[in-house]
Amino acid sequence: MARQPVFAIPLNRDLSTSLQDQLSDGLKERIRDGIIPAGSPLPSSRELARDLGVSRNTVVNAYDRLLGEGYLESRPRSGVFVNAAISGSAGNTLCRAGATKRLPTRTARRNFRTPTNDMKLVEPQPFRPCQPDVRLFPLSRWNSIRGRILRSSGTLLLNYQSRHPLGLPLLRQALASYLSESRGVRCRWEQIAITCGSQQALFLLGQLLLKLDDKVLIEDPGYVGARQAFELAGAKLIPMMVDEHGVVPPEKSAPAKIIYTTPSRQFPTGASLPVARRLQMLAAARTANAWLLEDDYDSEFRYSRPPLPSLHSLDSAGRVIYLGSMSKVLFPSLRIGYVVLPDELISRFESLRLIVEDHGPLIDQATLAEFIDSGSFYSHIRRCRKAYASRLEAFLAAMHRHKVPLDFPFTDGGMNQTGYLNGEQVTAERISSRLLAAGFDVPLLSRYSMQSPNSMQSSYSILYRHDVPVHRSGLVFGFTAFEPRTIQSAVARLAAVMHE
Ligand SMILES: Cc1ncc(COP(=O)(O)O)c(C=O)c1O
Repeated sequence: MARQPVFAIPLNRDLSTSLQDQLSDGLKERIRDGIIPAGSPLPSSRELARDLGVSRNTVVNAYDRLLGEGYLESRPRSGVFVNAAISGSAGNTLCRAGATKRLPTRTARRNFRTPTNDMKLVEPQPFRPCQPDVRLFPLSRWNSIRGRILRSSGTLLLNYQSRHPLGLPLLRQALASYLSESRGVRCRWEQIAITCGSQQALFLLGQLLLKLDDKVLIEDPGYVGARQAFELAGAKLIPMMVDEHGVVPPEKSAPAKIIYTTPSRQFPTGASLPVARRLQMLAAARTANAWLLEDDYDSEFRYSRPPLPSLHSLDSAGRVIYLGSMSKVLFPSLRIGYVVLPDELISRFESLRLIVEDHGPLIDQATLAEFIDSGSFYSHIRRCRKAYASRLEAFLAAMHRHKVPLDFPFTDGGMNQTGYLNGEQVTAERISSRLLAAGFDVPLLSRYSMQSPNSMQSSYSILYRHDVPVHRSGLVFGFTAFEPRTIQSAVARLAAVMHE
């Protein structure tokens, strides 16, 4: 049977835009214009692929994108439909200059009041590091889980629930099985504490474990939020060097209360720590009787191989405290992170958490638990992995094509790429300020270093300094929040600035 003409989207193989992008843009436009009305069914991916003469994958990926952006919704056993909440022609009437005076419907008003024009929220600029592409997030799926949960729990989830300062047991149980399957973290769900982002976990652990002048060994360059949390607790920071393999393990005799590390993917250089060094880190923590804080912030994003097992899975002495976050894998404003605590710290952590706040937003925690249990979490990770892998490829290919004078060591994953310059630090600084003036958000690598005048925070109480050069000068690029098309045009502009 011939397909209805509304789905006959013209696709042009000669354009640099992929067929998948052309198809999803074409569908979006027709939905927005009301040509494909709200609530109407879409052809199956197989049918549409046949009618348009493209591969089925092209259609599946375009549908996936629109599902993630909320244009489409999937109904179990019925297929894919245009989201019933989208009132295309009404929304469009509002946007067109000189449109009729018809009063907008409530739905249309809601659609029109997008965050960007109403609340002055901003999107990341190329190539801001550490930004997930929140447009890939399956909002309609999330909303339908959330609605179902609110209907079935009634008003229960709306009360204070100070019996659960470590978070909703349902979510802690869902996380325990995710961590065991995907990260080799073996723990009881009672050891898991939900926090408002992993930054809050770092803050609470600093308060809990450190006294004035205690020593903390910390990666340099490294995550500034961790340093700030430990410094606020009065600690003295001792930088650990980072090379192309990640952190250089400290001497076994180095005294410390906490050793903080990002072994799966060193932040910000992206190196993945080899097993021999992981074992040395564990040995150093054992000897110093230090807590080893493993910040596993984005290990899900390893593109050609499965993620490496966590440090926690190698630890036989119970010294590792494992931290994770939903900020990169789902979206940052969710503010859900978690920490796997050794038994001896659970009740003290619980008391401290209760002082900061009772339990965090319970509706989101309940929604997330169901999102994980239903498998949507895993499909979202797969979708992001695929999209990000092709963005990384597009990013590196464009950098190469435009002969941008930076070295990008192979990291096979993550959300950022550090480009090393062969010149002096002053050259890097000059380039960085020119990029900033041209509207790019590309920090200098030295901004993450404790020992640099450019550091994001320059008042550290550092105990020892490296007596070797800190590291090469470079720039840190995030690539995950930008579609290949945007990456290509942004790299072309960036190359022009750098070649000036
Ligand atoms: C290494 C590292 N750890 C922790 C965090 C904090 O994440 P959250 O948003 O969960 O507080 C970040 C955020 O960028 C990060 O880069």
